Amino acid sequence: MVPERLNLKGRDFLSLHDFTAEEILAMIELAEELKEKQKWNVPHPYLQGKSLGMIFQKSSTRTRVSFEVAMYQLGGYPLFLSAADLQLRRGESMADTARVLSRYLDGIVIRTFAHNDVKELAEYASIPVINGLTDLLHPCQVLADLQTIKEKKGQLSGLRLAFVGDGNNVCHSLMFGCAKVGIDIAVATPKGYEPDEQIVYLAKQDALKHGASINITNNPVEAVKDADVVVTDVWASMGQEAEKAMRVRDFAPYQVNEKLVSHARPDYIFLHCLPAHRGEEVMEDIIDGPNSVVWDEAENRLHSQKALLAMLL
Ligand code: CP
Ligand code: NVA
Repeated sequence: MVPERLNLKGRDFLSLHDFTAEEILAMIELAEELKEKQKWNVPHPYLQGKSLGMIFQKSSTRTRVSFEVAMYQLGGYPLFLSAADLQLRRGESMADTARVLSRYLDGIVIRTFAHNDVKELAEYASIPVINGLTDLLHPCQVLADLQTIKEKKGQLSGLRLAFVGDGNNVCHSLMFGCAKVGIDIAVATPKGYEPDEQIVYLAKQDALKHGASINITNNPVEAVKDADVVVTDVWASMGQEAEKAMRVRDFAPYQVNEKLVSHARPDYIFLHCLPAHRGEEVMEDIIDGPNSVVWDEAENRLHSQKALLAMLL
């Protein structure tokens, strides 16, 4: 049995906005506990006999591998469902796919383009649906990011985080995650690449409740000033390949380099969800430097998703 926690059984995980601070902190605590258990080879087969389907309509290294291994380590069974092979590709609806998969599986992870597709899948599935990334949000990434920040800084509430780059899926989920746990977040993007207004509005409401602030700016130095955590992401996300050349031009002043991080606190940590493009959104000496924690961040995808699966399934 999974240790006694808040009861999240049966819930979908589409956005961190749908969860309370208490629930998010409980997921992080369980992630820390499971990380220790794995380290000391303490068995934790909480999902014996359970199966997780994983639908991927976009590429993935970390999300796919960490969810597969997570299920294996929890005693369950992961099934990778390539979008190219499913009947979805030939026009079967999300609703019908959801109804059918619910008869076989105990949970579904989906990575796709339109956030509405994930919502539709969740609406028609009778089992938990986990958002493994959409064009709008990437909540699994931010759960691991919060675990990593807590691990490195010993706290969440009261810290200052700067996100520099595109107002994209990772940025949106970071705003929700930070707002819930009381981290002040500053987002710096070029003009025209700001985060979605509706997400900013909702995140600001969350922030207000938890004594955190959200600052959206076009000035990267202002965002990074005195930051404890500096985060960036690719300039062109999956699906935006055609805009790559234009984006490389527009985002050049938003590169995370020595000069920019000189404005952060001396003990700042650097996060990047990966994959990274060295020489574009981040310079090599930063991502491979002493303040970077990106490999621990990537590892924590496994531990935090094990916690998530154990609690939802
Ligand atoms: N960070 C992340 O989600 O990586 P993948 O695209 O490799 O899954
Ligand atoms: N913003 C990136 C994240 C990849 C994990 C993308 O959507 O491609």
